[in-house]
Amino acid sequence: MTAGNQGKVRIGLIGAGGIAGAHVAGYRRNPDIVEFAAIADPVRESAEKRRGDDENVRLYADYREMIAAGGLDAVDICLPHHLHAEAIIAAADAGLHVLCEKPLCLTLDEADAISAAAERNGVTIMCAHNQLFQPAVAAAKALVDSGALGRVYEVRTTDSFFNDFTLENMGWRAQAATSGGGELIDTGYHPLYLLQHFAGGSPSEVAAMLSRHRLEFMEGEDSAQVLVRYDNGVVGHVTTSWAYEPAVGTEKFSLVAEKGSLSSDGTTLHVRLRGEEPQTQSFEPVHEFAAEVAHFAECVLEGLRPIQTHIEGIEVLGVILAAYESGLTGSIAAVRTTAAAPAPVG
Ligand SMILES: NC(=O)c1ccc[n+]([C@@H]2O[C@H](COP(=O)([O-])OP(=O)(O)OC[C@H]3O[C@@H](n4cnc5c(N)ncnc54)[C@H](O)[C@@H]3O)[C@@H](O)[C@H]2O)c1
Repeated sequence: MTAGNQGKVRIGLIGAGGIAGAHVAGYRRNPDIVEFAAIADPVRESAEKRRGDDENVRLYADYREMIAAGGLDAVDICLPHHLHAEAIIAAADAGLHVLCEKPLCLTLDEADAISAAAERNGVTIMCAHNQLFQPAVAAAKALVDSGALGRVYEVRTTDSFFNDFTLENMGWRAQAATSGGGELIDTGYHPLYLLQHFAGGSPSEVAAMLSRHRLEFMEGEDSAQVLVRYDNGVVGHVTTSWAYEPAVGTEKFSLVAEKGSLSSDGTTLHVRLRGEEPQTQSFEPVHEFAAEVAHFAECVLEGLRPIQTHIEGIEVLGVILAAYESGLTGSIAAVRTTAAAPAPVG
């Protein structure tokens, strides 16, 4: 695809709240391939704050007006969760490519509508899964893909921190209708897409235990333990929480395989191959959002498939919905990735 302005992708930001600051920093670090063209947010001060002193960025209260005004190649969605699906579909139907914060959407009906919109408009939808751009993750993935570790058996990922939310400062995250659940569909999305990345198959079944250890005012869980079986035999285990700091020594991700194992705290990667000396690599941190924005823009400009599209976003959503079902029923739940009824057997 040729983007509109001298080989740059003209991006309109939708939602100028907290995480939008990191996305804007990502645009600013990629001036050769990204033009920060517009912002839509009903709160004028938020839009102005994200624009900074760049008068070229047009401001809108309503993202539909921003899309209708033209002059964009893509939108970047940083909205509360319950507003993602509608914005993705509105942008796709206007022929715009989409970068969307997690979660992609909240239900399988929304997922089906997003898939249909991507297909009928031929646009790229990339899930803004920033942790995939951590150098330790990329190095571990390259090692797994090289076959050096052999077949992967099990993967563990974690993302936990002490979150000082109160009911007053928690906003739309306190209600399941606007957040989609609790911690698992929010921060928990990160360790689940990492799991997906390393497992390399499609999720088939899930067992979960959900807890509200500390943030009692939330409607949903503040902590989750999730076991996922993938169709290639890999078993994944996620631990994620807003209730506590993880114990010392808790890894960010680890993986055991036929010929050895790897483990990482996010900046250091330890690799052990049976019969060989253990190896440790350390990485300088990168600006994950700059790397994410650069990847999105390059995919749009070159017509490439992003590292994780709506397809992986929907698979992660399927795991989360199955985890919620498992938490309620106390049994293992099948993962579904479409609301369509399964084909009859035989
Ligand atoms: N990748 C990460 O590490 C990370 C971290 C935090 C949040 N997020 C994700 O980013 C998204 C936004 O989270 P946040 O913390 O920035 O939320 P936020 O509440 O700080 O910001 C949301 C913004 O959307 C605006 N908004 C609401 N309705 C709108 C509409 N109809 N049109 C345009 N703008 C509208 C609000 O005014 C607000 O400025 C969520 O999906 C969240 O899960 C990701």
